[in-house]
Amino acid sequence: MTRRTTVTDLQRMRDKGRRITMLTSYDYPTAKLADEAGIPLLLVGDTLGMVVLGYDSTLPVTVDDMIHHGSAVVRGAKRAHVVVDMPFGSYQTGWQDALRNATRILQETGCGSVKLEGGQRSAETVHRLVEAGIPVMGHIGLTPQSVNAIGGFKVQGKTPREAVHLIEDAKALEAAGAYAIVLETVPTALAHMITQRVNVPTIGIGAGPFCSGQVQVVHDLLGLYDEMQPKHARRFAELGEASRRAFTEYREMVETGEFPTADESFYMDERALELIRRMTPEPSEDMTDAERVLREWVDEVQAQASAPERTPSEASGYDGA
Ligand code: KIV
Repeated sequence: MTRRTTVTDLQRMRDKGRRITMLTSYDYPTAKLADEAGIPLLLVGDTLGMVVLGYDSTLPVTVDDMIHHGSAVVRGAKRAHVVVDMPFGSYQTGWQDALRNATRILQETGCGSVKLEGGQRSAETVHRLVEAGIPVMGHIGLTPQSVNAIGGFKVQGKTPREAVHLIEDAKALEAAGAYAIVLETVPTALAHMITQRVNVPTIGIGAGPFCSGQVQVVHDLLGLYDEMQPKHARRFAELGEASRRAFTEYREMVETGEFPTADESFYMDERALELIRRMTPEPSEDMTDAERVLREWVDEVQAQASAPERTPSEASGYDGA
């Protein structure tokens, strides 16, 4: 039986020096593919708001959005640990609200843990959730839910004061019981220092190679999102361009009548066709082009339907769809 990765497995990976791969995922098919590729940690990030729902920040995302997408990811991934982001407004109003919302997210998605942003300012909330049995991943550095307060998507922790503050944030999260900490868009040397100073896995995004693991937004990695191209995002495929080409070809084939072919269509029983012919008047001599094409096509289908190697379902006209 397949066993799902747990937070203890992730800690063990970090302790043994095995790098942890995390990827965002927002739907069933992507989660299934990532799981089949052996990715142990899937994040249903609130980047959902930008890369899937088309907002220009993560702020409009709701708990219901996260539950809707989170449960699809849990259904798609059989082995990966699934962590779901707590969206803006679902935990900043106090630990009681946080506990209520995190409980809903866990119960209604079946995910293994939640993630929330903020260091020292979120430590008490993290502590309360962990105490209630909810594993929590922290997130410091560039925290997109505070984009309005920090003045944009900028590198964090560049000055000594900011850097020391971030180290203290990481320590506060560790002390509160966070099982891992995302470090987003911080200088490599600072991410390295933080990784050396805490005993839980650090997962970097734009934080250099010395973290315990890495996370990427799946739409960046697949070339599916053009609106923002962070320096730290590497495109491992160009599915955006491939999709555009496929959609264009599909449209062209519909317009020229090359799609669908008889092979992509369904047959009808010859006797049923005969009955229909008897019940409806024959087409008149001055058929339109469309009627003529349809007529030829019906004849072709009829010829195929009377071929000897028909399966029972084809002969009955039942396509099983
Ligand atoms: O929401 C998200 O996708 C994230 C990652 C960028 C870490 O928080």
